[in-house]
This record gives sequence, structure tokens and C-alpha cells, in this order.
Amino acid sequence: MTSVAVVTGASSGIGAATARRLAAEGFHVLAAARRTDRLAALVAEIEAAGGAATAVACDVTSDESVAGLAGAAAALGPVTLLVNNAGGARGLDPVESGSVGDWQWMYDVNVLGTLRVTQALLPALEASGAGTIVVVSSTAGFTVYEGGGGYAAAKHAQTAIAGTLRLELCGRPVRVIEIDPGMVRTDEFGLVRFAGDAERAAAVYAGVAEPLVAEDVADCIAWCATRPQHVNVDRLVVRPLAQAAQHKVHRVG
Ligand SMILES: NC(=O)c1ccc[n+]([C@@H]2O[C@H](COP(=O)([O-])OP(=O)(O)OC[C@H]3O[C@@H](n4cnc5c(N)ncnc54)[C@H](OP(=O)(O)O)[C@@H]3O)[C@@H](O)[C@H]2O)c1
Repeated sequence: MTSVAVVTGASSGIGAATARRLAAEGFHVLAAARRTDRLAALVAEIEAAGGAATAVACDVTSDESVAGLAGAAAALGPVTLLVNNAGGARGLDPVESGSVGDWQWMYDVNVLGTLRVTQALLPALEASGAGTIVVVSSTAGFTVYEGGGGYAAAKHAQTAIAGTLRLELCGRPVRVIEIDPGMVRTDEFGLVRFAGDAERAAAVYAGVAEPLVAEDVADCIAWCATRPQHVNVDRLVVRPLAQAAQHKVHRVG
């Protein structure tokens, strides 16, 4: 039977690119997010390209919704891969004046979302005998920057989940892989961060010749997930050539 790969946050950006790529690698992709119209379009696109995919409406902040996702995954076949990708940033305010609501949202989606989905799918991943859990954290998962306190706090916590889980699952047939992208130009990440302000969102990438794109990160995820099962890439840090560090970005003009 075809292996099932669950991808959260598959309605846009890195998640959608990962769903397309994993389908091309031969997985039956279970594409999860809240916006089902987008998921339906993605599934149609994957099927037209000869792949297999199924859409599931899922809000990773809801126990009930995530239980539904786990049920849908188990019904499709052996679940060997989970990509915890749903997440994002809200705001770029200093700690001094950051919105508690923004911090709460970032913690709920990035951290507790990853926890909830991982807990729900772990039994199926383990039962497959060859499971893999990918956590899409960020370079903000191991470094901080001004204005990024809430996002870095959430991504540090996601990184802590990945590291802890790898220790706890040692001896069981489930790999834990953390992907830490730097600057990735996706359509919505900046818009979500800046509450729909397209100009502010675009300014993040101003003068950067080639930021990463979603397909670059999907490529990293697919590469890690398709190594032989005994090979566990603990953590993969990937940035554009122009970004040597969070604070060191080469911009032209
Ligand atoms: N872009 C970057 O520079 C960058 C860098 C490093 C790490 N990352 C991380 O990579 C991941 C994807 O980022 P992206 O750039 O592709 O952003 P994006 O295009 O905004 O995608 C975020 C995805 O998360 C989903 N999502 C948000 N809240 C959700 C919820 N409550 N339940 C289920 N799904 C939810 C969204 O789908 P719905 O709204 O349809 O639910 C969307 O598909 C995030 O974890 C982000 O932190 C991004």
C-alpha cells in the first residue's frame, strides 16, 4: 500500500510545495489546513500530475479537528510521514510592547499545534514500523532578533519539542527531523505577520536577489524524509546565499 504523508498548513507556501513534492515522490499526501477551497485546488493539481492526495479540513488548535485528521490518515493506509508545517508569525513588536494576543496565537499554532498533531499521529507512525516526524521550525528556533521575540519564543519551543521527542523515541521506529529555514519568500507569511500590509511584507525581501522559495524548503524536507530509515537528519538549517545570519543580509540598492 502507498505510504501516507500528512502535511499541515498545506493550503499555501511551504506546506503546499511540500505536498506537491511528496506526491511526486510517491506518497499519498493528506493535505491539511483550514482553507478547504485551496486544499481542493491543490489536490486537483496533484492528481492532474499523476499523484495521489486527499484534503482534510483541520485547525491544529482544535483537539476535535486534529482527531479527525488522525482518523482520516489512518483510513488511507500506513502513515509513515508527518510534516508539522502549520505556523507563522504575527507582529514585529519589541517585547516591551508586543501584543499578548499575537504571542498567544504564535504559541497556539506553532507549538501546541505541533504537539497536538504529533500526539494524535504518533501511534500510526509507530505502527507503520518506519515513521518520520518533520518539524518545520526556523532559524528563529535557535537565535533571536529585535522585534522577533514572540516568534522566536514559539520557534524555540518547537525546536525543544523536536529535540525532546528524538530523545524520548530513541529505540522506537520513528525519526524526528527539524527543518530550520531562514528567509523564504512565500506569498502569505509576511502578510500574516503584518496583518495584511503588503508593502511591509514585501520590504522584508527588498534588494535580496534570491531569497529561498517554498520549493527550496520542500526539497530539503523531501530529501531528509527519503533517506534510508536508519539515517536521521537531526536538523537541517537552510538560508539563501544572501543571508549569512539573521542580521546579515546582502541587499542590492
Ligand atoms: N516564510 C518564511 O520566511 C519562513 C521561515 C522559516 C520558517 N517558516 C515556517 O514555515 C512554515 C510555513 O510558512 P509559510 O511561509 O509557508 O507561511 P504561510 O504561507 O503563511 O503558510 C502557513 C500555513 O499554516 C496554516 N495554518 C495557520 N494557522 C493554522 C491553523 N490554526 N490550523 C491549521 N493550519 C494553519 C495556513 O493554512 P490555513 O490558513 O488555510 O489554515 C497555511 O497553510 C511556518 O511554520 C513558518 O513559521 C517560514
